[in-house]
Amino acid sequence: MSFVRVKDLLEMGKKNNACVLAFDAADGNMIKSVIKGAEAAGKPVMVMLYPGMRNIMPFGVFAETTKYYAERASVPVGLHLDHCSDFDMIMEAIHEGFSSVMADGSVLSFEENVAFTRKVVEVAKNFDVDVEGELGHVGTAADSDEFSRKEFFTRPDEVKEFVERTKVTSLAVSFGSAHGLYKSTPKLDIDHLKVLSAATDTPLVLHGGTGIPDDQLALAFANGINKINIGTEFFNLNTKLNQEFYAQDFTKCDPFGFPEYIQPKLTEYIAGRLELSKITL
Ligand code: 13P
Repeated sequence: MSFVRVKDLLEMGKKNNACVLAFDAADGNMIKSVIKGAEAAGKPVMVMLYPGMRNIMPFGVFAETTKYYAERASVPVGLHLDHCSDFDMIMEAIHEGFSSVMADGSVLSFEENVAFTRKVVEVAKNFDVDVEGELGHVGTAADSDEFSRKEFFTRPDEVKEFVERTKVTSLAVSFGSAHGLYKSTPKLDIDHLKVLSAATDTPLVLHGGTGIPDDQLALAFANGINKINIGTEFFNLNTKLNQEFYAQDFTKCDPFGFPEYIQPKLTEYIAGRLELSKITL
């Protein structure tokens, strides 16, 4: 159990025809809750950091905190740097202890995306670091209804060439999801996913996990998605719990009050979401 490579978690997903859940986190309470929630559910999990959040927790602090709890956990835990388009920043994260990174070249042309992603993979493999690429583009739900726009979808004819030339560990694909809060209920294009999945054995990743109905997620997991990223709903719960806690009338100093209030509720949420994962340990 304990701290494992993302590659191994993805293989576990592939073997079970199932999906590993990956949560973005920003501080110690969130990291600990993800891992405690996974233990409660008896499921593997991944903890991820958005690069912009290294101002809250520097790469090294985030990596070491995750490893600390992971090494003491009864379930396998992976660590991953989410969306990063900056080569130097990816190198910094690897140097600071991240064992898996996302090289996000999804707004580049196909050739530029291949070149950027391959450059990251070539360095990362020397450090046994896994790399997730993105082909097609998973946009932002709040901006528009772009999640349903087919021109952002991953093109099946490009998948094989992309994974062969870049040698990514996993591939984020676009087939009807977007990041953030959806304006209307999304409808994943499962037929499109099936075609993408048939084009490669590389594990596929679904971004924009917040707000997709569970029945659609189950279909996606049964048809080639081996990792799902969830951020917004976890951050929103964290913010709501902060608001609730700090709305209290403080009459005495209780340094333990905040983590004692917030962690069990975050842990319960994570354990609940992990029911989606059909992986058996
Ligand atoms: P949501 O914030 O929509 O859950 O998406 C998270 C994500 O895909 C991070 O890569």
